[in-house]
Amino acid sequence: MRFLERALLPFVHGMDPEKAHNMTLQALNWGVIPRPGPYTSTRLTTEIAGLKLPNPIGLAAGLDKNAEAIYPLLRTGFGFIEVGAATPKPQPGNPKPRLYRLTEDRAAINRFGFNNDGMDVISGRLRNRVDSGIVGLNLGANKASQHRTIDYVKVLETCGPYVDFATINVSSPNTERLRELQGREPLYGLVKGAMETRDSFEHPIPIFLKVAPDIDERMIEDVIEVARMTKIDALICTNTTIKRAGLKSEHAAQKGGLSGAPLFDLSNKVLAQFARGVGNEVPLIGVGGVASGQDAYTKIRLGASAVQLYTALVFEGFSVVKKIAKDLDTLLEADGFDHVSQAVGIDL
Ligand code: FNR
Repeated sequence: MRFLERALLPFVHGMDPEKAHNMTLQALNWGVIPRPGPYTSTRLTTEIAGLKLPNPIGLAAGLDKNAEAIYPLLRTGFGFIEVGAATPKPQPGNPKPRLYRLTEDRAAINRFGFNNDGMDVISGRLRNRVDSGIVGLNLGANKASQHRTIDYVKVLETCGPYVDFATINVSSPNTERLRELQGREPLYGLVKGAMETRDSFEHPIPIFLKVAPDIDERMIEDVIEVARMTKIDALICTNTTIKRAGLKSEHAAQKGGLSGAPLFDLSNKVLAQFARGVGNEVPLIGVGGVASGQDAYTKIRLGASAVQLYTALVFEGFSVVKKIAKDLDTLLEADGFDHVSQAVGIDL
C-alpha cells in the first residue's frame, strides 16, 4: 500500500460508507488517486469474448454506477472495467443508509437498489468518453417497471453502441423479484432478446450474463442450457450473496447483498460448478472476494478466464489492483505457465 493511501484510508473509513464512495469517485476525477495505467506482460495480456485485455483483472459493476470516472478508473491499473447498473429511467434507489462496511470481515453489505442517472444521461457520458481501454455496462431494470425484460433491451439499445460489452444483471438481490428472471423460461427470452438487439448493431458487442451465488444445481443447469442455446459470450460468477455465515461485524444482520472476503468460497464453488458444466464452450469471469494475486489465481485455476473485484478496494485502496496483477504474473511464472490462459480450469 502506498504511503498516501495508508495515511488516507483510516480517514475514509471514519466516514459514512456512501459518502466515502462518492468522495472516491470525485478523488478519481481530481487525479488524487494514482494512475499508473494497467500492469501488463506477455503472460497477462489476454482475450475474452474477443476483447483484448492488458491484464485479466477487472473492476466489478457498482462502483461507478453512472459512468462518471471511466478514464481514471482504467488508469488505476484494471485490465477492463464495468460501469452501471443503468436502468431506462433514472431512479433514486432504496432509502439511506444502504451501504455498510464490515471491517472485521473485510466485507460490505449494500442494498442500493439500482440508484442511477438513467440510460439517457449515462449513454451521453459513454459516448463522450476518451477511448482508453475496455469498458462494459451493467444492465438493470427499473423497480417500478411492468416489463423488466424489455428494460434490459432498452438500455442495451441506447448505450450498447458506446461500450465494449454489456452484462445482463438478473442477480442483484436488492430489487425485489429480479432474481426470478434467472429461471429458464424468462432468462431464455431475455438473453435471446439482448442477443438479437446486439446483432442489429453496426458493431456487435459481446453480451455477458451475471449470476447470483445463491443458486442451486437445478438453476445452474437451467442457466447453462440458456447460455448454450443463446450462445452468450460469457458468464460472470457471481454477484453478492444474501447468505450470512460466520460474520463478526455489528452490521452482519443488515439486509442486502454481502460482498468481499466472506463471499470468496461461495462464489468459487459456484464458479467451479459453472466451469464443469460449460467446459470450454462459454468463458467465465470470476468475481467475489478477490483481494490478492493468489485469490485471482485461485479463481483462474477454477475456470475463470478473467476476474473482477470491488470490495477489496475499500480496504486496500486502488494500489491493490497493480499488486494483484503483478503477483498473479509471478504466481503463473512460478508454476511454469507462459500464459494465463494455460492455467484456466487447471484445478477442476
Ligand atoms: C455491487 N455489485 C453490483 N453488481 C452488479 O451486477 N450491478 C450493480 O449495480 C452492483 N452494485 C454494487 C454496489 C456495491 C456497493 C457493491 C459492494 C457491489 C456487485 C459487484 O459487482 C460484485 O459482484 C460483488 O461485490 C462481489 O465482488 P467483490 O466486491 O467481493 O470483489
